[in-house]
Amino acid sequence: MENKKKSSFTGSLGFVLAAAGSAVGVGNIWRFPYLAARDGGGLFLLIYLVLVLTFGFALLATDVAIGRKTGQNAWNAFGSIRPKWGFLGKLTFLVPVLIMTYYSVIGGWIVKYATIYLTGQGEKAAGDSYFMDFITSKASPIVFMLIFLAITAFIVYGGVEKGVEKFSRIVMPGLLLMIIGLAVYSLTLSYTDAEGVTRTGLQGLKVYLVPDFTGLTFSRFLSILLDAMSQLFFSLSVSMGIMITFGSYVKKDVNLNQSVTRIQLFDTGVAFIAGVMVIPAVYVFSGMGGMTQGPSLMFVSLPKVFHSIPGAAGTIVGVVFFLMILFAALTSCVSIMETLVANCMHIFKKNRKQMSLLIGVLSAAASIIICLGYNVFYFEYTLPNGQPAQLLDIMDYISNSFLMPLISLLTCIFVGWVIKPKWIAEEMAIASPGFRREGLYNFMVRYAAPVIMLILFLQSTGLLGRLIALFQ
Ligand code: PHE
Repeated sequence: MENKKKSSFTGSLGFVLAAAGSAVGVGNIWRFPYLAARDGGGLFLLIYLVLVLTFGFALLATDVAIGRKTGQNAWNAFGSIRPKWGFLGKLTFLVPVLIMTYYSVIGGWIVKYATIYLTGQGEKAAGDSYFMDFITSKASPIVFMLIFLAITAFIVYGGVEKGVEKFSRIVMPGLLLMIIGLAVYSLTLSYTDAEGVTRTGLQGLKVYLVPDFTGLTFSRFLSILLDAMSQLFFSLSVSMGIMITFGSYVKKDVNLNQSVTRIQLFDTGVAFIAGVMVIPAVYVFSGMGGMTQGPSLMFVSLPKVFHSIPGAAGTIVGVVFFLMILFAALTSCVSIMETLVANCMHIFKKNRKQMSLLIGVLSAAASIIICLGYNVFYFEYTLPNGQPAQLLDIMDYISNSFLMPLISLLTCIFVGWVIKPKWIAEEMAIASPGFRREGLYNFMVRYAAPVIMLILFLQSTGLLGRLIALFQ
């Protein structure tokens, strides 16, 4: 009965667009540029691209194939293959739960900025302390977060097909054009600061593209690797059950090989261009010192870019830009909430409407706490990677840097050694001439991924750093 009622995508394009809608979000436009800037531009970029082609491909193929072959949500998928491994599905479920608590907070920041530009106050946002003043204020971030969350819950309430698919079809191509335009504009920027130093967008591009190996230590390399890997998980929405759920909605006549490649291309393309849009701009206006700003990077630097556009055009660009990012963030958040709702419908045997409401309310409560992390519950905690963190960063770290390597490690052991890669390869070969990168896939899931994930997991806990120090 349940299967009959389940939504499914209308063909390959519908799946790719919806999956891309989930994948492309604040991860690409907010998280990727700030990590790249903080981790030395070119070096981060290089590592990230290598990871996408190897790990990204293997993890995404694994998730989608498990979903389609079992026709189940992550919660049940693993257990339906091998009952003993059912725990992995439950563990996987924790990730969207954690991400949900802070994703709508960032969504709220975007709603706020869209509103500022819509009401013609973009100039204010170009001030240095504007973003900090906003997130540390008590009520405003909560109000905007609730608006974002309410829209998300409303879409999920309506069901997958109507909500996600239609949305993605319109928004994704528009967003791509917009960031390409802004990226080109960023490269034309030039600014002379108070000390008379002139910096140009093209110099900034060099920082972004050319890896700088000077002074690179092993532990710094590991910490960049962990950042890049956490970004890969987050950005592709893999290893958290979401792509398993999506896979379960895909019909058998869809070529998964092709879909996986397209989703990756699109997601990585958007992140790369977002980097061209943000990093040269940060370099031009704030120099190398500005690169380490962290999560506030996009919100501080982009308003300066818009401000530099003469006349009313800056405001218009600001409005369109933040509305587009808002849509991208919504499609991602919808996919997170959709996974929570779909799983809970199954677990608690309740209908979609009831579960959407319940999860909407619980998420609101959790997100309010995260918002208060910048004032009432403010503290400074130093993460194992040495970065100062508040509640939002801690949630992000636990889900992306700590839990996801662990889940990937277990998933790869499960696929590589328990059910064997052939199980996945068979599914990937349906409706396609064969599983194209099968050799790479086998190597990744059996050997490379388990080893690297174990190293990264230890690194994320800070244990590896201590071990290395012991032997030095
Ligand atoms: N991949 C999305 C982004 O880049 C975020 C996301 C994370 C979506 C987890 C779903 C699940 O913003």
